[in-house]
Amino acid sequence: MILDLQQLSTIDKQHYLQHIIAPRPICFASTISKAGQVNLSPFSFFNLFSTDPAIVVFSPSRRVRDNTIKHTLENVLEVPEVGINIVDYDMVQQTSLASCEYSKDISEFEKAGFTMESAQLIKPPLVKESKAKMECKVLEVTSLGDKGGAGNLVICEVLRIHLDESILDNNKRVDQRRLKHVARLGGNWYCRVDEANLFEVEKPNVKLGIGFDALPEAIRNSTVLTGNDLGILANVEILPPIQPGFSDIQLEQLLADAGNRPVTIHQYAANLIAAGKIAEAWQVLLRS
Ligand SMILES: Cc1cc2nc3c(=O)[nH]c(=O)nc-3n(C[C@H](O)[C@H](O)[C@H](O)COP(=O)(O)O)c2cc1C
Repeated sequence: MILDLQQLSTIDKQHYLQHIIAPRPICFASTISKAGQVNLSPFSFFNLFSTDPAIVVFSPSRRVRDNTIKHTLENVLEVPEVGINIVDYDMVQQTSLASCEYSKDISEFEKAGFTMESAQLIKPPLVKESKAKMECKVLEVTSLGDKGGAGNLVICEVLRIHLDESILDNNKRVDQRRLKHVARLGGNWYCRVDEANLFEVEKPNVKLGIGFDALPEAIRNSTVLTGNDLGILANVEILPPIQPGFSDIQLEQLLADAGNRPVTIHQYAANLIAAGKIAEAWQVLLRS
């Protein structure tokens, strides 16, 4: 299916874009009006765009229903400061509750049962329950249109970060396994980041991997090795030479059974790759 954006309704655009551009981290934004009314709302049109300066952007859209603008946007236009509180699994239902369209004089802190914590450099309070939060100055607000559904980029500079000790390791670094993020996808879907679904991908070789095109043809066209397997193999700096001293009992058995080669050998190599034994996998493949 091919979709031409000009022909889609706003609701359809929202459906397709929000389901495929996912998961999105959630900025739980605390803001304050000039009159001192505090607001707290979640925004998943949010990300980090620069490290130095430290810039994050989130986008309160114009309401599709009636093309009005959100209280968060009104507030940052009046007081250009925002507390950005990161949402984790323990907070997700209350965060969703805070997204109700309460009237402007009502504090979502109270409605959703969160605790206000004074910030040090900005006026809006932070969410005590959040384990990672940022005090930000709003540098610029850019409107992306005047129709319902049009976003407004709130470009923020992070001034100070507050981290709960419970998410830090012994070196005071964030342990990715401990900050159990939730993220927004399409419709009602969320995902939860925890140890069971986290995995690591080693950074590509700084000295440049040999690349797919340099893989021996029999390996590149394997019916067994996946794109992920080949991506790992092609990340070596030079095509490994056959090591005459390499010995592996299982490989010798597979080599003796000429009938199934190279499928069984590739399967064995795939198992070695899955176990992180890349050098061994190469030796096995070079013998197949
Ligand atoms: C997890 C989550 C993410 C959301 N992301 C956005 C978003 O990126 N942009 C937006 O305009 N509304 C988003 N919403 C809806 C707003 O939170 C909702 O309209 C809220 O009432 C706005 O509050 P305000 O008018 O007090 O600023 C999201 C809601 C939830 C629950």
